[in-house]
Amino acid sequence: MQSIGGFGYIDGLMCCNGIPLTEVIASVPHERGFTPLYVYNERAILDNCAALNSAFPQAKKRFAVKACMNLEILRLIRDQGFGFDVVSHGELGRAKLAGARPEEIVYAGAAKTDYEVSEAVGAGVTIVVERPEELPIIDVAAISQGLETTALLRLRPNVDAHTHRHLTTGTAFSKFGMPEAAVREILENRVSASGYRFGGIHFHIGSQIDSPSCTAQAIGVALPIIDEFNLKLLDIGGGFPVCYTEDGSAPCVDEFSREIYNAIGDRDIQLLIEPGRSVVADTAVMVTTVMSVEYGTDEEGKPWRIVTCDAGMGDNPRPMLYDAYHQIWPLVAGDPESTPTYIAGPYCESTDFIGRGLLNLPLLKRGDRLVMMHCGAYVRAMASGYNGNLISPEVIVLSDGTIKLIAMRQSFGHSIALELVA
Ligand SMILES: Cc1ncc(COP(=O)(O)O)c(C=O)c1O
Repeated sequence: MQSIGGFGYIDGLMCCNGIPLTEVIASVPHERGFTPLYVYNERAILDNCAALNSAFPQAKKRFAVKACMNLEILRLIRDQGFGFDVVSHGELGRAKLAGARPEEIVYAGAAKTDYEVSEAVGAGVTIVVERPEELPIIDVAAISQGLETTALLRLRPNVDAHTHRHLTTGTAFSKFGMPEAAVREILENRVSASGYRFGGIHFHIGSQIDSPSCTAQAIGVALPIIDEFNLKLLDIGGGFPVCYTEDGSAPCVDEFSREIYNAIGDRDIQLLIEPGRSVVADTAVMVTTVMSVEYGTDEEGKPWRIVTCDAGMGDNPRPMLYDAYHQIWPLVAGDPESTPTYIAGPYCESTDFIGRGLLNLPLLKRGDRLVMMHCGAYVRAMASGYNGNLISPEVIVLSDGTIKLIAMRQSFGHSIALELVA
């Protein structure tokens, strides 16, 4: 296995930036067990931010908080010059706590409530308008607070990002944004509103975008609108892909930036990007412990091994939501077994598998630990309390080797705190 985000084997033991994960695991409070556990590598986050800063030197960068909302991680990313893309009251609160100034926050969201609009206006952040119905709400909120809001119009450019169908957001049938005609109509008819001014055009065609040419195609739809209405900002969302497999590849951010700057040409407009996955996906792992191992054969006599662990769909919903593939490696390296291995979780759902048909895992027994790669984006952020799951802790290995707990394991008390029990 090659090192991923600074996670790799040294003398047969999985390490993070040279620190054995056994040490990291031993460092967490463990009254109810050491795992599941999310482990981040600070060095890798800094490297990913540096790559984006170098690929997009003049662009404003707004990290998509939905990918990873831990405050320590947000502060780290903020310190690299990023602001934030948020979609809710909760994410806005985190962006502010992480130290972002209002002008560094972009507020999107497919169904903003009146409260959320009013809060965003009051906070002075830029609002991404996804539907015409939002405009009068913004107007009233801004006028009543004596403010003027900058609004970006979210365009649905009808471009296929050639990604998983659940990750594509810019095609004709999508719940996000507005078709070109609706955006034009708004710009033609509503420019006189006093509570907001149109700052530019926004789009986000999906996550794990297959090729920079998809982004360039979407830019090709946005630019004529920008030119015609003399707008000054283009926000192209996120979507830069990450390679999750052992042998695949994904275009790097430099390839995207080349095509994007080519498509924009010499126009004098501000570019804004909202990367999430490409900043954090490869910078964290999830460690889980084997609870049981069973061997069997299917109806056709093909052998299988089910390894049931203490982490599953409540700790990483991606495999269940998108058939997402994550590499899973043993904490202690060993010769692979030939039996196709299925990694099951503890949840009461037959879809609760986080790995299927794996051929790289050694002989395993209860107590052995497995390490799931690429768990920095949309993993802990999507964890749920199903089956009474108490969300697992997060730890970061700092660049100087210090191990720091950055989120405690949720307690039973936390999980029932909001319930009004007499
Ligand atoms: C509006 C918007 N911006 C940015 C992102 C971040 O995308 P990614 O994590 O693929 O970079 C998303 C993700 O869904 C999004 O919806």
